[in-house]
Amino acid sequence: MYLRELVREDAARCAELEEQLFSGDTPWSKENFELEFQQPYNFYLGVEEDGLLVGYAGIGLRGHVDDPEFEILTIGTDPKYQRRGIGRMMMDNICYIADLKKAPLFLEVRVGNEPAIEMYKAYGFKHLGIRRNYYQPSGADAHTMKRDSVTDTNSDKTPEQP
Ligand SMILES: CC(C)(COP(=O)(O)OP(=O)(O)OC[C@H]1O[C@@H](n2cnc3c(N)ncnc32)[C@H](O)[C@@H]1OP(=O)(O)O)[C@@H](O)C(=O)NCCC(=O)NCCS
Repeated sequence: MYLRELVREDAARCAELEEQLFSGDTPWSKENFELEFQQPYNFYLGVEEDGLLVGYAGIGLRGHVDDPEFEILTIGTDPKYQRRGIGRMMMDNICYIADLKKAPLFLEVRVGNEPAIEMYKAYGFKHLGIRRNYYQPSGADAHTMKRDSVTDTNSDKTPEQP
């Protein structure tokens, strides 16, 4: 099992996984993924096992160059491969990239999506608020979550007394 950057040829497989994982909420098509992979400030990675893409994730770099932030655009694991550490492989890498840039990470996650919420909490994400009617066509609400940057986390600490 290994992690790699996604390329145009992965778009069809990503769309297939997306259909399985987000069928009720306008899953991205192959064409959506092809466009996404071309965006200069987005980065997509995935996990492959025996030649099959079994996990995919994307992040976007946002904000000002001096004060960057990232958002998680999507993340999913093939249902047949879930609970085997693939989500963690992708999240480790995403958090590593954000930490390199000392940038906070933001995301939206459907209310009630406990597997994903548990995963994000395990990576230090905190609940920020609710976005009503965020997912379409279901109309489901989303939690907005944030993981502080390394700098933010450190700046929260009281300096030690000499
Ligand atoms: C969320 C998702 C990507 C996790 O992928 P995964 O490959 O199964 O993740 P991992 O096996 O690496 O597990 C990572 C952590 O997620 C949490 N988790 C995963 N599945 C869980 C479940 N069914 N119940 C509770 N926690 C769960 C745990 O904290 C787990 O860590 P642990 O195994 O050390 O306890 C996967 O469930 C998925 O594809 N869900 C559908 C798509 C989706 O909802 N994406 C998120 C959109 S915001």
